[in-house]
Amino acid sequence: MTKGRWGTALELLLAGSALALTGFMVIHEIMQASVWYGALAMDRLADELDATGLVGAGVVAVAVLLAVHALAAIRRLPLRVGEVRAFARTAGSLAHWDTVTWVLQVGSAAVIGVLGAIHLLVAGEDLPVEAVKSALRVRDLASTGFYDLLLTAVSVHTAFGLERIATKWGCPGRTVARALAWTCFAFLLVVGFWTLIMFHRIARGG
Ligand code: HEM
Repeated sequence: MTKGRWGTALELLLAGSALALTGFMVIHEIMQASVWYGALAMDRLADELDATGLVGAGVVAVAVLLAVHALAAIRRLPLRVGEVRAFARTAGSLAHWDTVTWVLQVGSAAVIGVLGAIHLLVAGEDLPVEAVKSALRVRDLASTGFYDLLLTAVSVHTAFGLERIATKWGCPGRTVARALAWTCFAFLLVVGFWTLIMFHRIARGG
């Protein structure tokens, strides 16, 4: 394959894996939100999923998808010293929304890379999912800000990453893409934080 074709293939891989991870994240948040209706509701849903025997495979599939996405994105980063210096020199003067979202993408990716990997290992090791186990974990990790940071990074990265992809491929237009990005951001953040509050309530025995 020529360099140009490789570039297009990697862009398609980046966009495809981003869309797949966004779909996963929305489903993940909706499923976690079952805890809004109590520990029993979440456990019932977890039991049904467990009965399919696909949860373990799902953890591996998501880990692979995250790795593919990171590898496809890595060439976009200024990894050489000269590139970092050039970026630092010009970024301040490029007070443009695209520069802001690019910096947000890199920062949130770093957080997800570390905390997302830890979460996948811990949640994947501690199957089957049970509401009380999760609630105690959320409570025990609260002082570290683990889930607050991970949730904020995931919401930023998913929403504004989609906007960047839409802008790159020119579909939909910028205004629609930005409105969708803010909607996605608000959805992930509000649903996610309300879920964390519900876990805390269960951990308190409520
Ligand atoms: C198939 C793989 C996954 C499983 C089985 C899983 C399972 C869980 C479970 C059981 C919880 C409740 C808290 C706990 O028990 O620790 C949770 C919460 C959470 N997970 Fe995952 N998770 C997976 C993948 C991911 C990925 C890839 C991300 C993002 C990088 C993520 C982000 C979060 C966040 C932010 C929360 C906090 C609560 C919320 O916003 O819903 N998870 N996950």
